[in-house]
Amino acid sequence: MPNQEPKKSYEFFAPKIYIRTFGCQMNVRDSEVIRGLLEKEGYSFTDEPAKADVIIFNTCSVRQHAEDKVWSEIGRLKGQSPPGTAPLMGVIGCMAQAHKEKIFERAANVSFVVGPSDIAKLPGIINKLRNKETLGTVPMQLKIWETDGTIRPDEIYRTGFYEDKSHAYVVISEGCSNFCSYCVVPYVRSALRNRKIQDILREITEAVDKGIKNITLLGQNVNAYRDEGGDFIQLLSKVNDIGGLEEFSFVTSHPKDISSGLFREMADLEKLKKHLHLPVQSGSNRILGLMNRGYTRESYLDLVDKYRKGLKKGTLSSDIIVGFPSETETDFKDTFDLVMNARFDAAYIFKYSPRPHTQAQNIPDDVERKEKERRHKLILDLQISIAKNKKC
Ligand code: SAH
Ligand code: SF4
Ligand code: F3S
Repeated sequence: MPNQEPKKSYEFFAPKIYIRTFGCQMNVRDSEVIRGLLEKEGYSFTDEPAKADVIIFNTCSVRQHAEDKVWSEIGRLKGQSPPGTAPLMGVIGCMAQAHKEKIFERAANVSFVVGPSDIAKLPGIINKLRNKETLGTVPMQLKIWETDGTIRPDEIYRTGFYEDKSHAYVVISEGCSNFCSYCVVPYVRSALRNRKIQDILREITEAVDKGIKNITLLGQNVNAYRDEGGDFIQLLSKVNDIGGLEEFSFVTSHPKDISSGLFREMADLEKLKKHLHLPVQSGSNRILGLMNRGYTRESYLDLVDKYRKGLKKGTLSSDIIVGFPSETETDFKDTFDLVMNARFDAAYIFKYSPRPHTQAQNIPDDVERKEKERRHKLILDLQISIAKNKKC
């Protein structure tokens, strides 16, 4: 008889996991990281919540609407399974960090709450909850929350799991220290931490060895990247030198941190995609000041001009918020006018949503919902017509 390895205990009751991701690319990458970690522990995955033993919602808190979607999903699953067979449910990511253990008060069917800095602990948490449940000692009563972590161990990025076999998201920095007055991200993802340049390059090289051809470098403000080994421009140049990599891009750029050499470097690096996502948020200097963005409409338009001159075929996209507290018709017209001038290839338009912890939450949210909708539609229609004309 051939020598057979004894089965590990988890292989007898390895749960099937369903993970649903809300929010930005950072969350998409985090879900991959989690999947990689759990697969290493022997867990399997399913695309059907009805077949899952464990349901994980990786959540976003950036606007109220993003949170509402999660609450309604949690509510929808309540009471769907026969008694005693309900899957373990967990809320992780930005909403977990924003609401912590209060999530258990609102959703009794949630068993674990884990913030973005604590995702490395997820396999242990799921094991613990599963074991208690299997043993029947504390059935469904045990709740675990982990939201106090500050640093992610860098190894979590090296499981080698990428959803797409030719493209990979690679995190270069976590968190954000900009504190734009409307934004919850610095509170739920904490202060900016840069990964070490050699760790980033190693991850990319290993991914390329596995067949990845295209990379997107991720950070809330990539231009602020800095490490002993170099700044953002030096990182771009080193990524460009990786043999076997065919194309790469980066997101998101902050106008206040764009250095003068960036556009020259973008033009020179042959593997770098000629695209820049440069959120402006508003065209009114008064509102930009209240938003704590650190630039003016004039300096933004100057950057757009330099970008267009430096990268003749470069494309440009942006984010815009309408209805920020106290935004008048004149402020709004300034934004409308900026969109007309900047001629973005694409723009994402958002209605201001007050967020917990933020500075702007202290200013009355005085632009009526209907007015936010009107402003949103006006900019959206304008942007659609600009994009259409550009294609002709
Ligand atoms: N770090 C990136 C992205 C942050 S979140 C950046 O600085 O651009 C993505 C977009 O959501 C932001 O650019 C902004 O336009 C929008 N956003 C953030 N907070 C918001 C809020 N409270 N209400 C409406 N839109 C918001
Ligand atoms: Fe939020 Fe501003 Fe940081 Fe972007 S740069 S994540 S908008 S605080
Ligand atoms: Fe949302 Fe968190 Fe990203 S709040 S936009 S998922 S960093």
